[in-house]
Amino acid sequence: QFDATLRPRALADYIGQEKIKGNLRLFIDAAKGRGEALDHVLLYGPPGLGKTTLANIVACEMGVNIKSTSGPVIERPGDLAAILTNLEPHDVLFIDEIHRLSHVVEEILYPAMEDFQLDIIIGQGPSARSIKLDLPRFTLVGATTRAGLLSSPLRDRFGVISRLEFYTEPELATIISRSSHILGMEIESQGAVELARRSRGTPRIANRLLRRVRDFAQVRANGVITRTVVQDTLKLLEIDEMGFDQMDRMILLTIIDKFTGGPVGLDTIAAAIGEESDTIEDVYEPFLIQNGFLNRTPRGRVATRAAYLHFDRIAPESPQGNL
Ligand code: ADE
Repeated sequence: QFDATLRPRALADYIGQEKIKGNLRLFIDAAKGRGEALDHVLLYGPPGLGKTTLANIVACEMGVNIKSTSGPVIERPGDLAAILTNLEPHDVLFIDEIHRLSHVVEEILYPAMEDFQLDIIIGQGPSARSIKLDLPRFTLVGATTRAGLLSSPLRDRFGVISRLEFYTEPELATIISRSSHILGMEIESQGAVELARRSRGTPRIANRLLRRVRDFAQVRANGVITRTVVQDTLKLLEIDEMGFDQMDRMILLTIIDKFTGGPVGLDTIAAAIGEESDTIEDVYEPFLIQNGFLNRTPRGRVATRAAYLHFDRIAPESPQGNL
């Protein structure tokens, strides 16, 4: 329970994602009732919303071990074979960034997921041999930022596919209060609400900011996290009223000031601000789009009227018809 990572261990302690939680509860109870391994689960959604946490909770609720790895780490088929042959019956194998598995590794995974069979070729040329091994029944939990990044044969082999959503402000405030307790801090409800409002719907961001707020409360205040303490800390961190950080602001202001509001291509924005296109698309855009500050159009990204207003800029009279 008192976990320094602030991650909940049991489904009952996990706040938010009510639909996923309800479904997982059902599927876990059913699998356990039958004495079977849980079907393979794919979790997708923006970073920091709890995919890794849920994978660990699935293992804990099933009462099995979890082995964690990530797509880019598994370089060769032999690496995956080593992991698969070390699993015990019903174990969870968690593969983060599963969209980054190489082709050859992915092909090992298909029969492993579907038939619990390992099909590998050892050696090269005329002496090459194919061997088949039976694997224990296991549960693959895969995580990715976008389901669309997976090949469809891989996606089709998951029995449960769940999308994580941004958290509501009351959910985040509850998470922040819970985390404060674990950290041994006193927090006023107005402090939790203020921090929740500026955490971009993301528990990882809320918990990261909370640690800085704790530092501030301890050194510059009387140790209690109040609304004022949160406001003063976020000012130091240059997090604005909407919870935007420097990168969020740079993305929106680049579109507004350098490209007259857009439309402008993602790669052009990336080059202008010196950040990877993938990072902008997976990490920053989802929140900006969901909250109506940015639009994706066939011709590129467009800053919305709300974005102009947020930066006290005068919005053009809808020249692209996108505002
Ligand atoms: N800490 C981080 N994410 C959490 C969640 N969804 N519920 C409870 N505590 C958390």
